[in-house]
Amino acid sequence: MNRQAVILAIAPLLLGGCNSYQTALGGDGADGANFVSLFTIFLAVCVVMYVLIVGALFAAFWHARRAAEPLTVETGKPHEEPRTISHALVGWGSLILVGLTGLTIASFFTDRSNAAAGSHPKLLVRVTANQWWWDVEYQSGNASQDFRTADELHLPVGVPVQVTLQSNDVIHSFWVPNLAGKQDLIPGRVTDIQLVPRKVGLYRGQCAEFCGIEHAKMALDVTVESRADFMHWVAAQQRVAFAPANPVELAGYRYFTSRQCGACHNIGGSTANGTVGPDLTHIASRRSIAAGAMPMSEVNLRSWIADPQAVKPGTNMPRIPLAPDQLNALAAFLARLK
Ligand code: CUA
Repeated sequence: MNRQAVILAIAPLLLGGCNSYQTALGGDGADGANFVSLFTIFLAVCVVMYVLIVGALFAAFWHARRAAEPLTVETGKPHEEPRTISHALVGWGSLILVGLTGLTIASFFTDRSNAAAGSHPKLLVRVTANQWWWDVEYQSGNASQDFRTADELHLPVGVPVQVTLQSNDVIHSFWVPNLAGKQDLIPGRVTDIQLVPRKVGLYRGQCAEFCGIEHAKMALDVTVESRADFMHWVAAQQRVAFAPANPVELAGYRYFTSRQCGACHNIGGSTANGTVGPDLTHIASRRSIAAGAMPMSEVNLRSWIADPQAVKPGTNMPRIPLAPDQLNALAAFLARLK
């Protein structure tokens, strides 16, 4: 029983070390790296203080035991206790003062360094939180070049990004631990966070504020890539959706645009232009479905459409009655939207 408790207690630490795609100790962004340095400084100072205090405690016990032993006549010394106590108090007080001042200075410089790293953003992204998905809009200043995606961020390595944050319903929190700290998204207010990714890689963001029943299934896939790969991705996202290439996909396209789907979802280049649900123009190019609820695949698209409540209870995605062949056609069409 005790061994189980120990394993449960250290499991998060072990998992935190293994899951390099979601860890606050990865230091894969400018802010993240500063936080890791600050954490290391805090840890070192706290460990030193802890060892000193525990050492002093044991020394005090040892002295108290010796003092309790009966004195021989020759060793009887004058009482020096009050002086020893005042020396000890001055010593400990100075140590605490120096330690706290050092940590305050370290915090200040971390804060300044974070502010400087993101002060000249080269890329603007607007992220809007919804129960329970992320609406992502890449803004270039030229409306014809802007595009939307959902539940994913692609970022060029080394480029400072300004992420504007807002919420359509309740309070959510934007958190990609590898890259930076948390920032809340508050209904009726616009907040922002600066990201400066330093390492190419796949990371996982997660809503960090309880926002309702599916708070846990509100993940954000983050891809940090080279500038060339990023530009390639942008060019692909700016294109309209692929046209259906065979009769099955065409049937899926027709169901999508003639049933309720198009009232909520947009597919660029089609008549489906809803905005209340995620943009699906290039849904098949994403890593997951329904904000990290399941990996992207045609099979998973089919089970998601067949019964969204079974995959993500409480989701606003309705179940639309479809015959098996209609469902297959719809999944085949969506899986084509790379
Ligand atoms: Cu959104 Cu928790």
